[in-house]
Amino acid sequence: MKVPFLDLQAQYESIRDEIGTALQQVLDKTAFAGGPFVEKFEKEFASFCQCDFTIGVGSGTDALWMALLGMGIGEDDEVITTPNTFIATAEAISFSGAISVFVDIDERTYTMNPDLLERAITPKTKAVIPVHLFGQMADMDRIMQIAQTHGLFVIEDACQAHGAEYKQRRAGSIGDAGCFSFYPGKNLGAYGDAGAIVTNNAELAEKMRMFRDHGQAKKYYHSIIGWNARMDGFQGAVLSVKLKHLPAWNEARRKNGQLYNDLLADVDDVIIPVEADYAKHVYHIYTIRTKNRDVLIGTLAERDIFCGIHYPIPIHLQEPYKFLGYKKGSFPIAEECAEQLVSLPMFPELSQEQIERVSEEIKTFLEVTV
Ligand SMILES: Cc1ncc(COP(=O)(O)O)c(C=O)c1O
Repeated sequence: MKVPFLDLQAQYESIRDEIGTALQQVLDKTAFAGGPFVEKFEKEFASFCQCDFTIGVGSGTDALWMALLGMGIGEDDEVITTPNTFIATAEAISFSGAISVFVDIDERTYTMNPDLLERAITPKTKAVIPVHLFGQMADMDRIMQIAQTHGLFVIEDACQAHGAEYKQRRAGSIGDAGCFSFYPGKNLGAYGDAGAIVTNNAELAEKMRMFRDHGQAKKYYHSIIGWNARMDGFQGAVLSVKLKHLPAWNEARRKNGQLYNDLLADVDDVIIPVEADYAKHVYHIYTIRTKNRDVLIGTLAERDIFCGIHYPIPIHLQEPYKFLGYKKGSFPIAEECAEQLVSLPMFPELSQEQIERVSEEIKTFLEVTV
């Protein structure tokens, strides 16, 4: 029995007719760039995220960048985030003109450690970007409290956390803005690249809306220098269809995560993911920690079980960010995670048999090697 890391085909088959109808409607209306299907999705996603506004954009990277621009963040500013994230978090900071400052993560949740945040703040700090990694939100009460004390913006990088919750509050709804990616493999994935920003701040929403559309509120009347970061109509239509299924898909991921947890809880040299007291985890990625990570991944692949690594090199040690001057040892927890985390197959349609097989193979491998 083969166990892929992700199976987009299985999900597509379950909604094939709805998707076909939605795409045909976009064709019939020739509503390709922005337009009514994007606007409809924006309303639906705002309501899903318990927010007033959604701004649909071209990707999660665009979302982060537009949020920073909308807040007026740029040259000579510093923005604090974590080093174990997808590089886009740091790239958006760089493209705004600001400098990335990193703080290490909490070793249980893999999200920003609020105990380390305050000492990273300088007079140049303008914003904090907690990353809700793997489907679990960062400790937002503490981060918001520190940010408010220092007058900083908070941008939630919720690119991996569609529908995740912090004390019953949805990802994206707590900070000044929340940024989402709809890359196809996400919990809510488009059929191409797409992203969105959510916010409750009307003025900020207006600014971000202008930045994503060449700085114009009215066609050909440009009041700021913007960019083309619009969402396309096909993606808006696909996302509207898929959003209706997201709660059920997230529940299926949680059930799968629980089954893995039950099966792997007592295995030597395996640390299973922790769902924090405050959190509703939506398992975008299900990661375990093990010292024998690389051999384990190779052995499982030989047995047709495919895993991933998120992420093998923390950002402060990636080539383009070496100029920041951090060294190996600067962020010990993030660095250890980069060496030990392995992402197991995880998607809503994963069967109980597949999870049992993955867990059995892991146990067998570790019994031999530990
Ligand atoms: C944490 C995080 N931030 C940002 C992004 C960037 O999103 P996109 O790939 O849609 O540009 C991603 C997507 O993989 C992500 O996982």
